[in-house]
Amino acid sequence: MQTIKKRIAEQIVEKVHAINSEAELSAQDVAAMLEYPPDANMGDLAFPCFKLSKILRRAPVQIAQAIADGFSDEAVERAEVVGGYFNLYLSGEYLTCHMLSEVSKKGARYGSPETGEGRTVVFDYSSPNLAKPFHIGHLGTTVIGHSLRKLHEFAGYKCVGINYVGDWGTQFGKLIVAYKKWGNRETVENGGVDALVDLYVRINNAISGNAELGIPADPALADEARAEFCKMEQGDEENLALWRWLVKLSLKANDEIYAQLGITFDSYKGESNYTNEMPYQVQKLRDAGLLKLDDGASIVDLSEYHMPPCLILKRDGSSLYPTRDIAAAYDRKQLYDFDKSVYVTSAGQSLHFAQWFKVVELMGYDWADKLVHVPYGTVSINGAKLATRTGNVILLRDLFALAAEKVAGIMEEKSPNLPDKEKIAEQIGVGAIVFYYLSNTRMKDINFVMEDALSFEGNTGPYVQYTYARACSILARAEAPVGGKLAVSTPEETALAKVLSMFEEKVCEALETYEPSVIARYILSVAAAFNRFYHNCTILGAEDENVKNTRLLLTDATKTVLGNAFDLICLKKIEKI
Ligand code: ARG
Repeated sequence: MQTIKKRIAEQIVEKVHAINSEAELSAQDVAAMLEYPPDANMGDLAFPCFKLSKILRRAPVQIAQAIADGFSDEAVERAEVVGGYFNLYLSGEYLTCHMLSEVSKKGARYGSPETGEGRTVVFDYSSPNLAKPFHIGHLGTTVIGHSLRKLHEFAGYKCVGINYVGDWGTQFGKLIVAYKKWGNRETVENGGVDALVDLYVRINNAISGNAELGIPADPALADEARAEFCKMEQGDEENLALWRWLVKLSLKANDEIYAQLGITFDSYKGESNYTNEMPYQVQKLRDAGLLKLDDGASIVDLSEYHMPPCLILKRDGSSLYPTRDIAAAYDRKQLYDFDKSVYVTSAGQSLHFAQWFKVVELMGYDWADKLVHVPYGTVSINGAKLATRTGNVILLRDLFALAAEKVAGIMEEKSPNLPDKEKIAEQIGVGAIVFYYLSNTRMKDINFVMEDALSFEGNTGPYVQYTYARACSILARAEAPVGGKLAVSTPEETALAKVLSMFEEKVCEALETYEPSVIARYILSVAAAFNRFYHNCTILGAEDENVKNTRLLLTDATKTVLGNAFDLICLKKIEKI
């Protein structure tokens, strides 16, 4: 569609310049102004002339008329002026032919704008605090982050995915106290993530108390935890050995989730790696005269920028989250020489990022403007807020298992004889959660309603995966698509071809706005167009060879586009359901 739009835009610009040669308007501007009318009766593309009215000193309808006069393009069947709009009706034959040839030429690269060539983008995502449960609150950073990475990769960028694990901090002190009090090597080794979560929940309940469970608060335990962490910081070998072991166990548990999602990282360089690199940045801040003492702590005053101060060193000289981030960003610049460095976290951390981005700018680092924070909203399940500090944690592992189990139940009825049922149920279940999540714009607060997410009808993951499998099964039953003439004979075919032509634009939109939801919703429109086509057009049974050939090629293109789009949002491609 981009090529068609570009050509049309060039012609429109020419006509505008014929009215006023001084008018400042490029073909690119015009292409961006071309709209997809909400109703097919208003054409496939529309050019609104209202904005030009001022520059050209003419009524919009006159401008539209001037553009329409003598307009012709091989992609355009007819064009008309309605009000201030210039409406274009595209030729189904042309659109289909053009789209199919692009799909067959580009295959797995169809839809890529190929704009990233030669540039590197670093993504910091997932990045959970280890020794704490990996819960539903981490779903956002993990799947939005990975989708953004895949989108950039698809566009041709060189991408580096970093899991900046929180492998240093007082939570380890807490876990060590809990372990020494209630745990032993065997139960933790055997119990894995459950044993760790138990200890984590138990120590937090013990520190803060839990009225429901009749546990009184014992703040002295918090001091003990701080003391254990302090020992770690001072190099106590016994605690460090415990720490290494706990980190290893946590990472292993998280890896199972990443495997279910098909996510891998290029680096796991976490917070603990930056302890030694922070003093260098602190010195730089001091040299630049940016550090101020505030009640014993060192801060960078940001009042001029309407932000609270950024804390660099605590009163006891220990470092803080922002300081580590500055050191890590500097390290990444040295390591990868990024053109862009993207951080995906909940919106709760927006201020933190705004603050230290500003500090990096004040330090004079010329890469300060290459840092991007991508925030997202909160998640709850069926209305319940999620907390990690109480026993009320919803582990991602449990959520995925529940989804898989429910899908297995549905499949038992729908397709009892499917081979490899269990694995497929897991992929659909996990996909359902991911799709439900990603089909909302990222800043929206999301409430999971499991029944809605898992339904095979409606705008869900199972529905789109089912649609993909449907396309695969038709192709599997056909002999290989034969060459021949195209014969586009129904509006459903044209509508499908049109939607499939729009993929690249959607990829660009998703990249520009850092919104995987654009892709999820695009997938829904492809699925809807394909299913309408499938229900209204006989494919394998079509009598005319050219008609059958065209329909098979459309089915094949749908498979390619859905497959490419699934890859962008962590959805597995399942050929048989
Ligand atoms: N570990 C942090 C948390 O769980 C997220 C880290 C995000 N990345 C960063 N560079 N600060 O809240």
